[in-house]
Amino acid sequence: MIPPDFIDEILTRIDIVEIIEARVALKKTGQNHTGLCPFHTEKSPSFSVNADKQFYYCFGCQASGSALKFIMEFDRIDFIPAVELLAARVGMEIPRDRNSGSDEKQQHRKSIYEILGLSAKFYDEQLRHHSQRDIAVSYLKARGLTGQIAKEFSIGFAPAGWDNLYSALAKTNQERTLLIDSGMVVEKPEENKIYDRFRERIMFPIRDLRGRVIAFGGRIIGDGKPKYLNSPETSVFHKGRELYGLYEARKSNRKLDQLLVVEGYMDVVALSQNGINYAVATLGTATTEDHLDRMFRMVPKIIFCFDGDTAGKNAAWKALIVALMHMKDGRSAKFLFVPDGEDPDSLIRKEGQDKFNWRLDQSKSLADFFYEKLQEEVDIASIEGKAHLSQLAMPLLMTIPVGVFRELMINQLASITNLTSEKLQSLAGVNIRSKSSLKSISKSALEEIPSVIPDIPHGDDYAHYPSDSEYEYPDQLTEGSSELARKAIGLLLAQPELATQLDDKEIQSFELGRGCALLLDIVRTILAEEIGSPVFLLVKYQNRPEFTELKLLAEVEQLLGVSDIPAEFQGVIRALQEDRNRQSREELKRVLLAKPLSSLNDEEKQQLRDVTLNKG
Ligand code: GTP
Ligand code: MN
Repeated sequence: MIPPDFIDEILTRIDIVEIIEARVALKKTGQNHTGLCPFHTEKSPSFSVNADKQFYYCFGCQASGSALKFIMEFDRIDFIPAVELLAARVGMEIPRDRNSGSDEKQQHRKSIYEILGLSAKFYDEQLRHHSQRDIAVSYLKARGLTGQIAKEFSIGFAPAGWDNLYSALAKTNQERTLLIDSGMVVEKPEENKIYDRFRERIMFPIRDLRGRVIAFGGRIIGDGKPKYLNSPETSVFHKGRELYGLYEARKSNRKLDQLLVVEGYMDVVALSQNGINYAVATLGTATTEDHLDRMFRMVPKIIFCFDGDTAGKNAAWKALIVALMHMKDGRSAKFLFVPDGEDPDSLIRKEGQDKFNWRLDQSKSLADFFYEKLQEEVDIASIEGKAHLSQLAMPLLMTIPVGVFRELMINQLASITNLTSEKLQSLAGVNIRSKSSLKSISKSALEEIPSVIPDIPHGDDYAHYPSDSEYEYPDQLTEGSSELARKAIGLLLAQPELATQLDDKEIQSFELGRGCALLLDIVRTILAEEIGSPVFLLVKYQNRPEFTELKLLAEVEQLLGVSDIPAEFQGVIRALQEDRNRQSREELKRVLLAKPLSSLNDEEKQQLRDVTLNKG
């Protein structure tokens, strides 16, 4: 573990130009140094190194990064040796203190896993020995679970009572703290009380891929609220990343090649008992990028299972949007919609494994669901409808990684709309032929830009999107952006929704401010199209002259890694406003000074005094 501060420190001390020059012939051209790219074969130089930003970038192959990344890639060495090499250059030594803070943290995490493991053991024992175990056992039986499956999933029982777990496990002060930090007990300091989070519940341990318990879900026995209670976010549990049943699926299935994503704990367990041992559940959240990332690393095929009602369809659409950007060739995503009033648990009990497998075979392909859903939004009988469909579809299709699947999806759009791909291209304002820009989008937008997709609009929202023609883009924003504007753009590329914080006055000041044209255009685009995702924002600009600059700004922004982006953005906007005020004072001053002093009236004289003194 090398502290991040230390790496920052090195990077501020070394000079990237010097580092690269020692390996690649560079020539100074204006602000930058350029040369032949060492990462791809080329005849004319498109590799550039920027000393100001301490950043390299290749316009040909989009290789980019800091001096550290360059060393790793060029010298083909790992992270630690690369840091060592750079550190040696500036005479610094890597701190390797055994008793550093991170070690303590590591130790703490280890103890959290231990206390969670002990908790699972406790609940397991209660299910087997507690005097009221019958309540739990008969509930599980009534839901059709065998003892065998309960054992496989380590299902347990949290009996009634305020402090069963607490008094069993908190023998020392340290254990007490661990129980609190792991979310197993709740502390009410004002009442000087501590009590078990889970009481009178069936307990489902959530395990990581190594089989360690990281959290619990607890279902109330019988009726009552809340029906399910989950562990809170802790240092070892992040809801948006974990999937219930993933460990068990992999354990019971060494050659796992597909995963079925369902909503509930009981669905996972019931499916497994009935022979479908590759189901996983998100933990009361929508499917996130992290989930998909994790699953597609393990298997090439994912089937999403949702309710067949409107809410289910909308949830499925959200999952689809996130899935698109993971659809490299060779992967597949399908959608199974269960009949009204059923869930996978009830369905497989009612119909059995064969019928359920038949349903799985019948599940909808991503392509079919995609075009069906979009066609519900538009009337494709008309020319306008076809155009609208393409406008809705194209930006989404452009988030699919370059490859055969994307080509096929675009071909399908062409055949639905009876339009040629050229026509589609001009309607959607997307150049699908330009391979190099596509490559850069999929690479930069999907891999290097932080993969948070804060708020993906679902199908219904798309109907309200203004079409491109409703909003006139300037042909080209020739004016270069000012330093502050570039900073603001970089931050917007990291968090597009920051634009919604701006008030009208601030936006108007961009109209007048020097070097703010591109910033204004981006703000308007985000607001007009309710763009919440960095990827979508970049896609919007991918075919425009400013794209390269934007991409670089996004990367620089990411590299600098501002910790509080909204605060930083506010600061930049304030500075822009001050700049604008200064500009207008200067303009006024120029106008007033151009006139003979004697011709000024009293008000004008006062104004001149004010602007000269920098007031007003
Ligand atoms: P059963 O009634 O036991 O069959 O549950 P289910 O899995 O069919 O429940 P449902 O479809 O209502 O919920 C699906 C998933 O949403 C659950 O597995 C939980 O992860 C989550 N969930 C449901 N109800 C609650 C709740 O009250 N609180 C929280 N935090 N999550 C819930
Ligand atoms: Mn259910």
